[in-house]
Amino acid sequence: MRDKIVAGNWKMHKNAEETEDLLNELIDKLPSDAAVHIIVAPSFVNLASAVQHLEFTNINVAAQNMHQAKSGAFTGEVSAEMLTGIGVNSVILGHSERRAYFNETSEILKNKVDAALANDLVIIFCFGEELKDRQANTHFDLIEKQLSESLFHLQEKDWANIILAYEPVWAIGTGETASPEQAQEMHAFIRKTIDVKFGPAVSQNVAILYGGSVKPDNAKEIFSKPDVDGGLIGGAALKADDFVAIVKAAM
Ligand code: PGA
Repeated sequence: MRDKIVAGNWKMHKNAEETEDLLNELIDKLPSDAAVHIIVAPSFVNLASAVQHLEFTNINVAAQNMHQAKSGAFTGEVSAEMLTGIGVNSVILGHSERRAYFNETSEILKNKVDAALANDLVIIFCFGEELKDRQANTHFDLIEKQLSESLFHLQEKDWANIILAYEPVWAIGTGETASPEQAQEMHAFIRKTIDVKFGPAVSQNVAILYGGSVKPDNAKEIFSKPDVDGGLIGGAALKADDFVAIVKAAM
């Protein structure tokens, strides 16, 4: 049985004080015995304090991005080693906003994946089609391409550190969710694609999260699908009560 995972992507929200307030509320309200892996991803500047704040809790901290180089003249960037140095153990890579607004290509993401693995970070690897791809019925091909270009060079052992997050771009922040059936259909396709390339030991164990307008009122039905192993939550992760309800829906 794969574990369920619920991760909150806070994006560019919450200053230092707001981060502390939300973390305190989560510590109070989240069940400490949840059989769900819980991850939060505040902004870079609040990662160190979040790690300290959550030290004795069951909540893990992820970064929302990192640079692929070990170090160097990359003004404004953050390396994998800088993340692990402050106790961050996971990183979100390939979010559609990074792909669209910061020109992150599959090749760049492949390098980021390698740099993260070299530092033993757990990777939440995001991918997903745009509405035009679904309308043109090319969404399965596109998903296979995104996976193969950034992840198919990996070795079987690397998959212990990979969490997949399928996020149809048309469902992110739009209030438009993939139906539970659409999510299951794509998640089964993703698992099959991984199975063909890496075999069942990888495909049966890799967690595949769904992301895109997951809310307290739709989470349970989406999470009940056999190939959906939890969610990557944006907007609803910014309100403690909503995030807690979504975690509980995964239990
Ligand atoms: P959303 O964002 O839940 O606000 O749609 C999801 C995401 O971008 O990860």
